[in-house]
Amino acid sequence: MSGVVLIVEDEPGLRQGLSDVVTAMGSEALTAAGLGEARGIVAARTVDCVLLDIRLRDGDGLDYLGELRGTARGVPVIVATAYGDSERTIRAMRDGAFDYLTKPFDLEALRATIERALKQRALARSAAPAPDPPETRADLVGTSAAMLAVWKLIGRAAGSTAPVLITGETGTGKELVARAIHAYAPRARQPFIASNLAALPPTLIESELFGHERGAFTGATARRSGRFEAAAGGTLFLDEIGDLDPALQTKLLRVVQEGTYERVGGNDPIATDARLIAATSRAVRPGAAGAALREDLYYRLAVIEIELPPLRARRSDIPLLVAHALRGTPARAVSEEAMQRLLGSPWPGNVRELFHVLERAAVLCGSEVIDVGDLPEAVRAAVPVALGPQAAEDISLHEAVAGLEKQLILRALERAKGNRSAAARLLGIGRPLLYAKMDEHGLGGRGVE
Ligand SMILES: Nc1ncnc2c1ncn2[C@@H]1O[C@H](COP(=O)(O)OP(=O)(O)OP(=O)(O)O)[C@@H](O)[C@H]1O
Ligand SMILES: [Mg+2]
Repeated sequence: MSGVVLIVEDEPGLRQGLSDVVTAMGSEALTAAGLGEARGIVAARTVDCVLLDIRLRDGDGLDYLGELRGTARGVPVIVATAYGDSERTIRAMRDGAFDYLTKPFDLEALRATIERALKQRALARSAAPAPDPPETRADLVGTSAAMLAVWKLIGRAAGSTAPVLITGETGTGKELVARAIHAYAPRARQPFIASNLAALPPTLIESELFGHERGAFTGATARRSGRFEAAAGGTLFLDEIGDLDPALQTKLLRVVQEGTYERVGGNDPIATDARLIAATSRAVRPGAAGAALREDLYYRLAVIEIELPPLRARRSDIPLLVAHALRGTPARAVSEEAMQRLLGSPWPGNVRELFHVLERAAVLCGSEVIDVGDLPEAVRAAVPVALGPQAAEDISLHEAVAGLEKQLILRALERAKGNRSAAARLLGIGRPLLYAKMDEHGLGGRGVE
């Protein structure tokens, strides 16, 4: 695939390098050192793809992105930045960026992305006009590759009205992501209505969602509107969808398919334009063991699926999350040793658990710096992990497994009240292996025969 690629980059060396890459791919490279030059080129030439740096001396590439949708309609724009933050990634994707790359470039990924962009351009599909950007900002923390991928999907979702399904372990930020999608969407000023489907008995959920007519059931003394009605024009967030009763899943499927529902005890179909975002921490993919959603409903809801990674899979975000959690608390920082335990913990409760631990430690520590001793036992027992300048996604499998192993042993010893034989049975291993493992983890002195 070849075409004309406009490179907007103010760093001369990089500009030349990118130009060489594009030329080697068999395309024509046009270069601009800033937005002024870029405007001139776009006015004079037809381009097939733009590679756009966003921090430029004569302006912000993100503002230019919106402009390009008018002056270079349907031309895919690949946004490049040295700073991967949620705000910019989401805005870029919402405003129609073809993709978002972070510097330093991974050459393979760069070539593949340009190739895809040129292919799309060849299909000559023109994009829909950009919505007015709302002046909102979501409090999303994270710069790991995994979270940048999530910010991208939020941006895409915000620019569409297709249903979204958010999955991920407890405490990974599913609700936060749902709110961010709404906050960045054109309908941001319309209501965001959340309904927790696990919190109510099935009989109540139906009337909660769809409302009821007067006399629909005992106690229905007046007509009541439901969540779908409240979310008109806005977003309806169906939390814990995996806990929804099968009969109600069938009803919900009909609503999603037909865009209409009926109040309990009513016969008139009512149209809804509420945008649906569902979330669950249960397995829902068809074929997954114990899948909690009917297959057809899953496919209807997961038009856009966002899977939130557990915190232990993106440890490089932990220092930022720590700083975020400590804002407004008496503590300013955590000691290096404490940070190493926070980095090494497996965090089964993910971000929520991390926040709780820090809030509690901030109050209890009585000083400006949280130290290891202020952390709960389970976190103190973690194998310390040092975070290099790179990222701790690099944490080795060996280290991770060792950390988990040590915690499991400690937990088993605790449950067995220190009896080593009983602990070995709980762990499903022989005593000799338990002893060896205890020595390995420096737990030799713990427990009794
Ligand atoms: N990336 C993030 N940046 C900032 N805060 C976060 C992030 N992810 C999660 N949080 C915070 O962690 C807490 C838990 O998030 P949230 O309630 O969205 O999780 P959840 O996935 O819905 O959990 P559950 O499945 O238990 O309902 C909230 O206080 C939320 O603000
Ligand atoms: Mg939740």
